[in-house]
Amino acid sequence: MELSRRRFAVLGTGVAAGTALGPGQVPGTAAAEEPAAAPAVTPAGTGAGTAHSVTFDPYSLIVDGARLPVWSGEFHPFRLPSPSLWRDVLQKFKASGYSAVSIYVAWNYHSPAPGVYDFTGVRDLGAMLDMAAETGLFVIVRPGPYINAEVDAGGYPGWLTATAGRARTDDPTYLGHVDEWLTAVDAVVAPRQYTNGGGTVLLYQLENEYASHITDGTGARYMAHLYGKVRADGIEVPLFHNDKGRNGYWVPGSFSTGGETGRYLYAFDGYPSPTGTPVDWGYFGPGGTKGGSTASPGTPGFLAEFGGGWFDCWGGAEFNGQGYAGARSSRDAVYERRAYLTNLANGIKLQNVYMTFGGTSWGWLPAPVVYTSYDYGAAIDEARNLTSKITPMKQIGHMLTAVPDLGRLDRAADVTAADPSVKVYHLVNSETSAHAYLIRNDTGTERSTTLPLTTADGGSVTVAVRAVARDAKVLLTGIAAGSRTLRWTTAQPMTQDTIGRQDVAVLVGRPGDPVDLALECAAEPRTTVLDGAAVASYDAGAGLLRITATLSGLTRLLISGGGTDTPLLLLLADDTASAQLWRYDTPSGPVLVRGPALVRTAQAAGATLHLTGDTTADSDLEVWAPRGIDTVFWNRSKVAVTGTSSGSLAARDKLAGPPQITLPALTGWRRAAENPESAPDFDDSAWTVADKATSFSTTKVPAGGPVLFADDYGFHYGDVWYRATWTGPVDAANIALAYQTGTQGALMAWLDGAPLGTHRMPVPTSSQATTGTWAATATFALPAAAAGDGTHVLAVLVRRMAHEEDGGGSDSHKSARGLVSAAFTPAGATAAPAPTWRLQGAAATMDPARGPMNTGGLYGERNGWHLPALDDSAWQPVVFPYTDTRQGVAWYRTSFRLTIPHDVDASLGLTLTDDPARAYRAQIFLNGWNIGQYINDVGPQHTFVLPAGLLDPHGRNTLALAVLTDGTDPAGPGTVTLTAMGTAAGGTQVDLVPTYDTV
Ligand code: GAL
Repeated sequence: MELSRRRFAVLGTGVAAGTALGPGQVPGTAAAEEPAAAPAVTPAGTGAGTAHSVTFDPYSLIVDGARLPVWSGEFHPFRLPSPSLWRDVLQKFKASGYSAVSIYVAWNYHSPAPGVYDFTGVRDLGAMLDMAAETGLFVIVRPGPYINAEVDAGGYPGWLTATAGRARTDDPTYLGHVDEWLTAVDAVVAPRQYTNGGGTVLLYQLENEYASHITDGTGARYMAHLYGKVRADGIEVPLFHNDKGRNGYWVPGSFSTGGETGRYLYAFDGYPSPTGTPVDWGYFGPGGTKGGSTASPGTPGFLAEFGGGWFDCWGGAEFNGQGYAGARSSRDAVYERRAYLTNLANGIKLQNVYMTFGGTSWGWLPAPVVYTSYDYGAAIDEARNLTSKITPMKQIGHMLTAVPDLGRLDRAADVTAADPSVKVYHLVNSETSAHAYLIRNDTGTERSTTLPLTTADGGSVTVAVRAVARDAKVLLTGIAAGSRTLRWTTAQPMTQDTIGRQDVAVLVGRPGDPVDLALECAAEPRTTVLDGAAVASYDAGAGLLRITATLSGLTRLLISGGGTDTPLLLLLADDTASAQLWRYDTPSGPVLVRGPALVRTAQAAGATLHLTGDTTADSDLEVWAPRGIDTVFWNRSKVAVTGTSSGSLAARDKLAGPPQITLPALTGWRRAAENPESAPDFDDSAWTVADKATSFSTTKVPAGGPVLFADDYGFHYGDVWYRATWTGPVDAANIALAYQTGTQGALMAWLDGAPLGTHRMPVPTSSQATTGTWAATATFALPAAAAGDGTHVLAVLVRRMAHEEDGGGSDSHKSARGLVSAAFTPAGATAAPAPTWRLQGAAATMDPARGPMNTGGLYGERNGWHLPALDDSAWQPVVFPYTDTRQGVAWYRTSFRLTIPHDVDASLGLTLTDDPARAYRAQIFLNGWNIGQYINDVGPQHTFVLPAGLLDPHGRNTLALAVLTDGTDPAGPGTVTLTAMGTAAGGTQVDLVPTYDTV
């Protein structure tokens, strides 16, 4: 046995750790008073021990006295097992206008055994929270204990499935385990709260969509226990629960908070269908009429999860086999915009987009309802690319900061568009007199109509609007554009501020949208159209500069004088142009950048602005920077810039895009067959004897036993082998093996070394098919040999996939996995022999880096065949496609060297393709990490992301495929290639994830 340690190695020359902080927090009014419409806050940095206050009123969260409209994206660090890439994703969130990131913390990911909690390596929650703080994002922490989340057992540890005590109740045994978990996770979270200055943790969720025991007292006692425990652990930020729909469950006062008031929020979740009229739950807030709004009048509208995509199932029925491209096209940018703006119009001031980056359910993480990829059709795809869905997210996120009036809206008098099929929501900020109009076209055809707007001076104007089919937009009156006031605008504001010597306001919309806006100007200003086409006219009587244009690319107007000293640069951007705009705050002032595919950080130092970011093609670089800045660096290289008439600094030459990446062909495969366990003379004496008679499982133990459920013997993830040994002939025609797995489970059996056959669970019809198909009986005809005297050995391999989630609170995660019973049928004249059963799952020695969900009980897994350090030189060289016709398990290994340039972020995948008639499946190991399961004849996933950090972009990598073939038809790996899934010049620094391999 040789112990080799793969050390942390600095790989990239990308962005150095420790990135720009948010700006100093803009203080609001005193907390005791109603907060004024102050600019929304962003995290003020951490580590200084500065205490902050996080409170709320019926309108919004209030942070240090200023309103914070929370615009959050969901990200699961456990679905990206490479801590360096957490920073990449978090920077993409920040760049895309999110103010917060919401994370589940999965109990099973951190706890391999009772009393054992691991927060190191890919499980380093503290490091993740620190990165979020560095990046300037608030964090919403959701540690369950139950999380659902399409993970094995809904996040419950495997070991919990074999314990007494009804989960999701106040059962003391269960609560004992829960407290152990909360103690461990809270010890990481508590020091990193925004309130104590240690981090940016802003809110904390109790449980998840808990809809059980609403009325019988059990639920209330359970929730009260969680509340008290979390508070006792030092969590002082507001707590909340996410109601599964706007039912009004677990509103403040519905359970005991130990006499404490004002630190608990009501929230709910929504996953509306992409077809039909957008869901409208009614107004949440003062005057609201439905469900949660009236049940919780003292808390602001809070959508703890709103579907930013949806998940797919084995076989791909959810999206007609298109995989997550289907999710991204049915829930596209228009769907997102329409939904989130409708939510805003309905008084929702805290929104979390589930998922914003979905990632990968690697290893044995996926729940039965999903396969490996958890891409989710999210705005950032599994390969970490920004998709077209990010544009509305960015526009809305920045708008919520740039238009503080949106933080305190009430419903106002109904307004009807001239075309009544265009729906209008009218809201007003009674303090600033700003009015907001959400217009939405629920029809399938574009509409052009007119609409009367009320202006802050009490007047009215009728404007023309274009309502794109099934789309939505916001029109506003009485809002700021730098030091001026926009009397009205039909283009949606994205950002505005004083940048350098001028004000800059960005207004956005769809290409072709007519823009009509009016600026209050005491005297006629000088207006210059710098770029594009626009018409400006001054109405001296009204004191208004009226501008009309049609959105096309980027239109620029410079407005100077007119009674205001600071000139205003108006940038009218269509969606494509706005996708290239990046707004940052530095201690020297705000920065706006145009051109690159991404800006990650912006730091001002003296006269120099340091920018880091990505280009995906040769790109412009144009910068609006704080006063005094005349020098620009891009990714640590000085850029030659010239001043422009727009008041910006523009690069003389384009920034280079990434080079063409050449990927090696995967050759040099070697093969070794295994499953020695099927042979009659295999030594199983060290295996666990199945000798239990009782179980805590919800599955009934068969009469006469023994318990065969894998979890009862400590085998919680991956494959399980069983061997039954008996002496004497069997007087029966068949052996009937009842077994349970998650979706796509399978069973293979051998008698005395000869294959009996393979049985598989059916392919689900949709991701909603959550029950009923994962228990089956495999009946095999017994060969004549079974009727012979002597010792017989039945060997059974069960691919048991995943534990069920427990969404219904019925302990369904305790449904048995593995074999349930074995019977000789029909019963013969002589009594059937009583076999001795032994079983074996994953090796007891846990892989400390990759964790317990990385491997199951295959012979190769138990003996390190997945690990890079294994010497496979004696294995048989093979060429793909390779045809295997035996029932059982064979491994294929190769290695390849990558030479990705150091300043390039190449997101790579592994693509497997073959004739779909060939029945085989492969567990894919990259450098020992189980990065997914491929089922050739089921799909739909063919490409598996190889995350940098597990993958060495500048060195040698090892692939191992553990392939199960059923022996019924020629099968075996077909074509296996590396795929470039997205390449950018720039990227973040990537450190290899350390491992401690023993082979
Ligand atoms: C929600 C649940 C999440 C996740 C989501 C669907 O109801 O809270 O954990 O399961 O549905 O992806």
